[in-house]
Amino acid sequence: MASNEVRFFQLNTGAQIPSLGLGTWQSSPDLVGDAVTAAIKAGYRHIDCAQNYGNEKEIGSALKKLFEEGVVKREDLWITSKLRNYDHAPEDVPEALDRTLRDLQIDYVDLYLIHWPVVMKKGSVGFQPENFLPPNIPSTWKAMEELYDSGKARAIGVSNFSSKKLADLLEVARVPPAVNQVECHPSWQQDKLRAFCKSKGVHLSGYSPLGSPGTTWLQSDVLTHPVLNIVADKLEKTPAQVALRWGLQMGHSVLPKSTNEARIKENFDIFDWSIPEDLFSKFSEIQQARLVRGASFVHETYGAYRSVEELWDGEI
Ligand code: A2P
Repeated sequence: MASNEVRFFQLNTGAQIPSLGLGTWQSSPDLVGDAVTAAIKAGYRHIDCAQNYGNEKEIGSALKKLFEEGVVKREDLWITSKLRNYDHAPEDVPEALDRTLRDLQIDYVDLYLIHWPVVMKKGSVGFQPENFLPPNIPSTWKAMEELYDSGKARAIGVSNFSSKKLADLLEVARVPPAVNQVECHPSWQQDKLRAFCKSKGVHLSGYSPLGSPGTTWLQSDVLTHPVLNIVADKLEKTPAQVALRWGLQMGHSVLPKSTNEARIKENFDIFDWSIPEDLFSKFSEIQQARLVRGASFVHETYGAYRSVEELWDGEI
């Protein structure tokens, strides 16, 4: 295996997280099972899930079949899931993980993340502002630590946390978060958070690594950016492969979503080549903009955040 393959990153638990995972956000329930099957058959060993994506049952059925058919063993897979905003109360956290484990038809997850630093009233649906509650991350984290102790979550972490929110958590954590999963791609490189995570031994994992081009409510032009296209032409790769390979060389895991078999395979072909230094340095010229702003978690009266700046502690 070539030394620049970057198949895994080591977490602060000692575990090795596969550097490429299949994203399942916005994968419709009728397509996600086939996507997971295609990905695992293509060589993926990491599936990024969340209860809030509404498709864990379908993923679970696909996994069960793959295990039964001997295509892959549970211990060879890395499965991540996430705690919904509705389940932050400490007594709800173990129930939420049990629900996910039932749906996925497995008995542990490799990584369990607090999905957002945002809390919604239990039993509410959607993001109605009157259902926002103030987060109490230290108490939710204690319950996450118990899941880690129990072995049902082999690593625990957070998602969508700014440097400040991560620093606050590190102050009180008995088990430090292993991962912060955040939006990350060439047009939102997360320089500040990346440096902070590195200094604290927290692995950064990047969602929307292609800039979510199929999402109509985001203004995404990551894959059409001239830098990506120049690099792709020179290396005879696609802009998507260049975006993903850039992520690996930056040191973060990448979680591209696709339900298309050809693109799932295309996105896996990022290990036996690399972006040379002269081309890699061009990525620092790319103008930066956060795509996933979380505006639906911000309200002038309700909840913890009066503005998008407050949600991200100025990292926008
Ligand atoms: P599809 O599922 O039809 O392949 P992200 O992971 O950044 O959120 O991006 C996901 C979006 O990018 C989806 O709309 C997905 O569509 C599309 N996509 C996935 N892989 C590729 C690729 N290799 N080239 C272009 N678009 C892709």
